[in-house]
Amino acid sequence: MSIERVGIIGAGTMGLGIAQVCARSDIPTVVVKATPGDLGKPRGKLESGLAKAVERGKMDAAVRDGILANITLSDQESAVADCDLVVESVVEDIEIKKALFKRLEGVCRDDAILATNTSTLSVTAMMAVCKHRQRIAGLHFFNPAPVMKLVEVIHGFETCEENIQALTVFCRRIGKEPVQVQDTTGFIVNRLLTPYMLNAIRMLERGTGTIETIDKAMLTGAGMPMGPFALADYIGLDVVIAMSQNIYDDVRQSHHAPPHTLVRLVQLGYLGLKTGKGFYDYSVKPAVGNPDLERPVI
Ligand SMILES: NC(=O)c1ccc[n+]([C@@H]2O[C@H](COP(=O)([O-])OP(=O)(O)OC[C@H]3O[C@@H](n4cnc5c(N)ncnc54)[C@H](O)[C@@H]3O)[C@@H](O)[C@H]2O)c1
Repeated sequence: MSIERVGIIGAGTMGLGIAQVCARSDIPTVVVKATPGDLGKPRGKLESGLAKAVERGKMDAAVRDGILANITLSDQESAVADCDLVVESVVEDIEIKKALFKRLEGVCRDDAILATNTSTLSVTAMMAVCKHRQRIAGLHFFNPAPVMKLVEVIHGFETCEENIQALTVFCRRIGKEPVQVQDTTGFIVNRLLTPYMLNAIRMLERGTGTIETIDKAMLTGAGMPMGPFALADYIGLDVVIAMSQNIYDDVRQSHHAPPHTLVRLVQLGYLGLKTGKGFYDYSVKPAVGNPDLERPVI
């Protein structure tokens, strides 16, 4: 099937980023804010991110105008009723995502593809609560979605091959590099990257180095675009702790469990860049890393 209209559920960091990617490829895109509150906040975030990209010469004003014209914001899930593809990007919680998929089945056409942007959760677990299981898949973008090329196209247990192919073609159309992955916790990237960040936090707890020295070492010694702490802040510490917990729940090996420092920061509401404070305090100085990635265009 051809994907000509996209719906996104969740107007957070990833939802708005994915919407921008689709809209830039001239695909009409509806973004549904998943929690109560007025639409001014996500609209403002979208507009200010794009304005910054134009100011910094990374985007033409005409492209920005095209993106904004292609995006509709709504607070009603029914707004995605005529979409060919709906991508959910709400908080990383399996029960919330399962309930959402159930509701979407009541809203969307039977042939629409329903995808999750989950970082680590089981696509098959979401599929299990649905009637038309062949159309449920994972479509995992990376942060910042407008910049990062990869999309993991995740094959749930009963996802049909035709829909995997349609999603793969769609990813190429929106300028992304798709890889097809089987549904296993963390897929490819987060299964490798999450233990890396957890190891860095444990190294900090052992006193091997400071946040800055560990980040600097990986940046300049291993050629990483940003160190593990800057990366964790960038992803969002609530997302990192959820990824850690989900991998731990799956494999039950203690080194995958969330480290103490991460738990404490999340308890305090220090979630990284999105709250202004995480391992780094963003009101004081930028984290060590690639400035283009630290200041996303959205
Ligand atoms: N941050 C990343 O680097 C990254 C990368 C790829 C995928 N993801 C995944 O994308 C999804 C969204 O993450 P994000 O980084 O955009 O987070 P975010 O905190 O920026 O946005 C979360 C969204 O979930 C909504 N939400 C919060 N509580 C909710 C509830 N009880 N019910 C329904 N919606 C609720 C919020 O309104 C918001 O739109 C998660 O599944 C995450 O694992 C994140």
